[in-house]
Amino acid sequence: MQFVWGAAGRKSGGEESHHAGDLGHLDEKAAADALRFHRSFAAYEPTPLRALDHLAQEWGVGGIFVKDESYRFGLNAFKVLGAAYAIGCCLSQRLGIPIDEASFELLRSAEAKQKLGTITFVTATDGNHGRAVAWAAQQLGQKAVIYMPKGAAQERVEAIQQTGAEVIVTDGNYDEAVRLSSRMAEQHGWQVVQDTAWEGYTEIPRWIMQGYTVMAAEAIAQLQEKTGRTRPTHVFLQAGVGSMAAAVLGYLVNRFADDPPLAVIVEPAAADCMYRSALSPDGSPYAVSGDLHTIMAGLSCGEPNPFAWEILREHAAAFVRCPDYVAAQGMRLLAAPLGGDPRVVSGESGAVGIGVLAELIRDGRQAELRERLQLGADSVILCFSTEGDTDAGQYREIVWDGKHARPSQDR
Ligand SMILES: Cc1ncc(COP(=O)(O)O)c(C=O)c1O
Repeated sequence: MQFVWGAAGRKSGGEESHHAGDLGHLDEKAAADALRFHRSFAAYEPTPLRALDHLAQEWGVGGIFVKDESYRFGLNAFKVLGAAYAIGCCLSQRLGIPIDEASFELLRSAEAKQKLGTITFVTATDGNHGRAVAWAAQQLGQKAVIYMPKGAAQERVEAIQQTGAEVIVTDGNYDEAVRLSSRMAEQHGWQVVQDTAWEGYTEIPRWIMQGYTVMAAEAIAQLQEKTGRTRPTHVFLQAGVGSMAAAVLGYLVNRFADDPPLAVIVEPAAADCMYRSALSPDGSPYAVSGDLHTIMAGLSCGEPNPFAWEILREHAAAFVRCPDYVAAQGMRLLAAPLGGDPRVVSGESGAVGIGVLAELIRDGRQAELRERLQLGADSVILCFSTEGDTDAGQYREIVWDGKHARPSQDR
């Protein structure tokens, strides 16, 4: 496991950061609009925030909290927060209605349908985002076409097909699937709903990020209710293209401007575009290519969302890249909790944050990062388990059979 400091980490070590970056669209108003919209779906409920008190005691920290997104809209991952909100914004824009007046009922109404006709939403996905787009399109009476990278798990393909969407498994990696879906959209007049931005395509990814802020807003409300503390001191955020991490961190920095939590951005070593971007001398995003093979399918992305990267560059404390066994260890830790701690069913991309925390606490080689982050008795740590067992076969191989164990030289 390796790390590199971000601007907020250098600041906590006495160095100056450069400037604040644009956080305007990830504020409390945006989160409130997105929450109001999500509440209009019958399936909406806040996901649970689990307190791992025994684990916190064992590790000598003030608290460990895990937001369990496996409960989100019955879809086993957080992604629908972005997809449903972006599709909602898109439809209300076409209808000429401000999003703070739109609702599920209104967008589903016969009158709206008559004005909108049938729209095909298209995206590329490792699974979670595509399932979310397909579900949201179906719920709102529209269509979806989903492109997946080669090697996509059959279970994830089927979960998307069950929503009535068309699924195409491509020959290339995730980033190539993104380009293909956007070319197909141009050819067929479809609407791209992608969870990353590029030049000329920024509005929908911003809506997606605004949708994700709901997860952070819920977590803070739950933390305050459970503990009386206003905010966490540390937050571990896993990154694929970085939209989720930047949305949550942007919200937290906006909300706790005077003293935001220290954020550790976590990635698989095989798809470490944020880590490498953090090393880039001029601060520009760095793209990693190739197969990007990792068990953390949701994080297997080589090209940062440039807008998300700007937020992470300015506001993250550290960027960590880790081998697959760290995620597997996180899954096992959450599946077999200490004492009376609640169990969290967490998939590969969901559990890597707690896996990295475990490394920081338990591995003497990580002392520098642990000390600089000041992880100790006063720390209140927040992790987001962004998916459940979205590949149930692999989940059991890891949790039951011990697949992807820590190699002996690292013990
Ligand atoms: C379960 C899970 N966690 C985290 C992420 C990372 O999100 P982002 O690509 O916005 O960094 C993804 C992305 O697909 C995911 O599926």
